[in-house]
Amino acid sequence: MFLIRPAVLLSLLCLSCGANPGTQPSPAPTTPFADELPSPLRDGPWSPSPACKETAASVLARLTTEQKAGQMTQVAMRYLTDKEDLARYAIGSMLAGGTDFPGTDLSAGAWAAWIDEVRKIALRSEPGIPLLFGIDAVHGNAKSTGAVVFPHNIGLGCTGDPDLVRKAARVTALETRGSGVDWAFAPVLAAARDERWGRTYEAFGETPELAALYGTAAVQGLQGASLRSPGSVLASIKHFAGDGATLYGTSHMDNAFLDRGDVRLDMARFRALAVDQYIPAIAAGAGTVMVSYSSYMGTKMHGEKHLLTDVLKGELGFAGFVISDWEGIDDLPGGFASDVETAINAGVDMVMVPDRYREFIAAVVSAVPDRISLERLDDAVRRILQVKCEMGMFDEGYSPKTDPALTAKVGCDGHRQVAREAVAKSLVVLKNAGLLPLTPGARIHVAGSGADDLTIQCGGWTVTWAGEGRRTEGTTVLSALQKRARVTWSLDGSGISRRTDAGVVVVGEMPYAEWHGDRDDLHLDQGDRRAIANMEKSGVPYVVILFSGRPMIVTDEIDMADGFIAAWLPGSEGDGIADVLFGDVAPTGKLSHSWPAAMEQIPINEGDKDDQPLFPLGYGLTW
Ligand code: BGC
Ligand code: BGC
Repeated sequence: MFLIRPAVLLSLLCLSCGANPGTQPSPAPTTPFADELPSPLRDGPWSPSPACKETAASVLARLTTEQKAGQMTQVAMRYLTDKEDLARYAIGSMLAGGTDFPGTDLSAGAWAAWIDEVRKIALRSEPGIPLLFGIDAVHGNAKSTGAVVFPHNIGLGCTGDPDLVRKAARVTALETRGSGVDWAFAPVLAAARDERWGRTYEAFGETPELAALYGTAAVQGLQGASLRSPGSVLASIKHFAGDGATLYGTSHMDNAFLDRGDVRLDMARFRALAVDQYIPAIAAGAGTVMVSYSSYMGTKMHGEKHLLTDVLKGELGFAGFVISDWEGIDDLPGGFASDVETAINAGVDMVMVPDRYREFIAAVVSAVPDRISLERLDDAVRRILQVKCEMGMFDEGYSPKTDPALTAKVGCDGHRQVAREAVAKSLVVLKNAGLLPLTPGARIHVAGSGADDLTIQCGGWTVTWAGEGRRTEGTTVLSALQKRARVTWSLDGSGISRRTDAGVVVVGEMPYAEWHGDRDDLHLDQGDRRAIANMEKSGVPYVVILFSGRPMIVTDEIDMADGFIAAWLPGSEGDGIADVLFGDVAPTGKLSHSWPAAMEQIPINEGDKDDQPLFPLGYGLTW
């Protein structure tokens, strides 16, 4: 259990958008969505209001078994072959998966238009229950091309500033809503124990304490003080449980070692590393929990009744609903019909099918009441309806239409400002041999694969699933430096002249998602090493900025360089990096991971090895 003090006085969020400071006498400051500021942590788990319990019970009472199964269904955009099926089957939810798009225009307005249309169709079902629409807004609502992209959680875990994380999640909520979406599949609460894992960057760090502290703040920011307010989104704490604690070599995915693997720890250790961090996030009111693809002692979490039902819903008192992960039930032993039964009987309430939704509904209908009890069916649907009620979906004035005022603010300056601050605070200075901060106006040579590439700077879950290819809007390191210094640039650093004051070389990992990011070699690639070598050869002092989803093995590079900064996957606001480089913001970031000196040290975590890491958890220089 963790002690997280109720957020003391929550700083007022002035996310002014489009205001032109200084030209008009300023009106009395207003706080947009002041009523949604996060409420202090409750003692004990959140539970639905008596009014919503009553509403859910009365809606439930008039549903047929097929309509109940429909409410338990989540279908992905690409698999909804006939939009009218939403009404026909009273489908409860849709999602935009990693590679689902509304068309070629990926602006918030285009997303909102597409989603508004399906919401309208869903409302025409016989019971007329509104549709929940989910997306992986894991670092901003990054699937919309104009949205602000925040640092991935690994960087936020270095900020030492849960209020800032809460604020970032608030902006994410506003932008997610502005794109028509009311459910964010975030935050990840894993303690990421092994840097070879491809999802390390989605977690706040290597300890459950970091996950609890920042994850709870993120839930508060996403959901606001009330799920009902127009700028709040439903959060999904994930992936319950054990996703970051799997044993190397146990994954069943091709070319993967850890993702979707097995956790082999005794129950007490498992609870301490992978379950306890959910307690404060549940107290903060997280409305949904997403199940992990991983397994515990050989049992897939999607069928783990003890953990999903006895522990999560029983002991921990989770009163929201449990959503399965994408095709997660398909990994269970047996055929589709038995997968459906096993998962629902284990405690899954809504299934991210995401494809064969008609088959899913039929499987549920035929299993009730013999293989899935009516009580279990009703419990699942009641939980879903209660959350929908808390979101205001059964209120008199509920509208399926996105508020255009929110759409207009997606990517606005006020929002970018919050991300810029988060970038600056997430940077961890690992070395500074007197080079930093740089002097404004200096002659600087910029190099490296990451210097002018937003896809590398943002990482996975940005526009596309793995983050490659389509770009979003933002400022690269190169363009941020060009505003403040006399900059020359060459990709491999060979263009550097001796008459340069300093070099900045930005290297890192190509973007990836999930198991595709599992790696057993975390050294820099050849191109990046060449860029650093060229800088080194020039004799000009230089700093290396590393964009990566985890600590990498850069012991030699740190040795050579005059400065070294771990910048993680900072997102769209490269200006935040320049703020630190030029000394406008003093670096304060502290490592959210122990930093290994060599591959053989991995996994390395605070307190569990005799080996000395290159830098311990919590390390970070300032000036
Ligand atoms: C991931 C989840 C994600 C879901 C929907 C899954 O593959 O594990 O984290 O929310 O896809 O895109
Ligand atoms: C989907 C993602 C999902 C991933 C993993 C992709 O095709 O778009 O949402 O997370 O597959 O299965």
